[in-house]
Amino acid sequence: MQQTYAIHVTYRNHVPLHDCGSLDNRKGNRADRQKDGKMKVLVTGAAGFIGFHLSKLLLAEGMQVHGFDAMTDYYDVNLKKRRVQALMQNEGFSITEAYLEQDGAFDKAAKDFEPDIIVHLAGQAGVRYSLENPRAYLDSNITGTFNVMEAARELEVKHLLMASTSSVYGANEEMPFTETEKADTPMTFYAATKKANEAMGHSYAHLWNLPTTMFRFFTVYGPWGRPDMALFKFVDAVLDGRPIDIYNHGDMYRDFTYVEDLVRGIRLLMDAVPIRPATPADIPDGDSLSPVAPYRVVNIGNSDKVRLLDFVDAIEAELGVPAIRNYMDMQKGDVPATWADADLLKALTGYQPATDVKDGIAQFVRWFRDYYGK
Ligand SMILES: NC(=O)c1ccc[n+]([C@@H]2O[C@H](COP(=O)([O-])OP(=O)(O)OC[C@H]3O[C@@H](n4cnc5c(N)ncnc54)[C@H](O)[C@@H]3O)[C@@H](O)[C@H]2O)c1
Repeated sequence: MQQTYAIHVTYRNHVPLHDCGSLDNRKGNRADRQKDGKMKVLVTGAAGFIGFHLSKLLLAEGMQVHGFDAMTDYYDVNLKKRRVQALMQNEGFSITEAYLEQDGAFDKAAKDFEPDIIVHLAGQAGVRYSLENPRAYLDSNITGTFNVMEAARELEVKHLLMASTSSVYGANEEMPFTETEKADTPMTFYAATKKANEAMGHSYAHLWNLPTTMFRFFTVYGPWGRPDMALFKFVDAVLDGRPIDIYNHGDMYRDFTYVEDLVRGIRLLMDAVPIRPATPADIPDGDSLSPVAPYRVVNIGNSDKVRLLDFVDAIEAELGVPAIRNYMDMQKGDVPATWADADLLKALTGYQPATDVKDGIAQFVRWFRDYYGK
């Protein structure tokens, strides 16, 4: 049963105006939309892990945020509801509960809200689930993203930012992964849909001069994290005395990115609006900016690859309980390592994620124990 919350937004206090005039390189009625001085950001997937943290950050800056989320049951819906409840404490937040691919639903929400910026994070996530239910990825990530792009085009938003993934680097072996290298060997259907999103985004940026940034996220973790991801599963199992499955016998590497660092990176990239270069010679070295569109791809990662076994050791140390380790072979579609080159993010924003994985695990465990009373 789908439900739409029509929350009327009133302002509790007058926050400093967000300066977005410099972003305005498009025609249209941007100035009208910001009569009250508040930047309006439509965040798809606001009930999700990253969307929740991003919405919190934007609201704390005094922006007006409208979420769009179907509250899918891919994982515990209560966790999503609790995130939304927390966001609802802020009067600048409202949300539409609907599927992206549902006819006209996103279009209506976007036209009612008239965002300056859209950050599209909703989607069917998860590498392994895409072997079981690929159609969910087709519907949410392809059709859903198309509907977001169409609304962004019609509304002439200042900047469309959309989630891709480090999984698009697929079978690439050259590390760390840079945005300017080819990424043409997706190993899962999840990665294939995200790679398709990048291509779709490029075409709209080119055709309609729609400034578009695609993020490639690297294994995000932290408080309010996803129950299908390793940190959550490991902590939960260790505290219950259940064994944990360690793939490829622990010989895997991930560039774990702390969620608050990640959303800080997203926030800063919102201001780094791509501009179509006059000639390819105008593109700085290392910039993934397209020669024919206001479009770029940006890694957001910690730039520090951590061995899975060290990750498990750190969890044990934080919990003070040894894990029962069940060593397994590599899973189909998995890649042995991810590692971000985050120089482009730094060049564009001056910012580099830096939370040490031990500190991030400690923050997660504190939240987990408190939330689940374990
Ligand atoms: N968390 C990571 O490590 C990671 C890494 C790489 C990329 N990503 C991408 O970042 C984005 C956010 O990831 P997350 O970790 O917050 O995942 P999440 O599953 O917690 O959040 C996604 C949200 O989108 C909603 N959603 C899914 N399909 C929808 C649909 N068809 N219509 C409307 N809403 C829908 C879900 O209900 C959920 O709340 C996703 O696109 C994901 O693929 C995440």
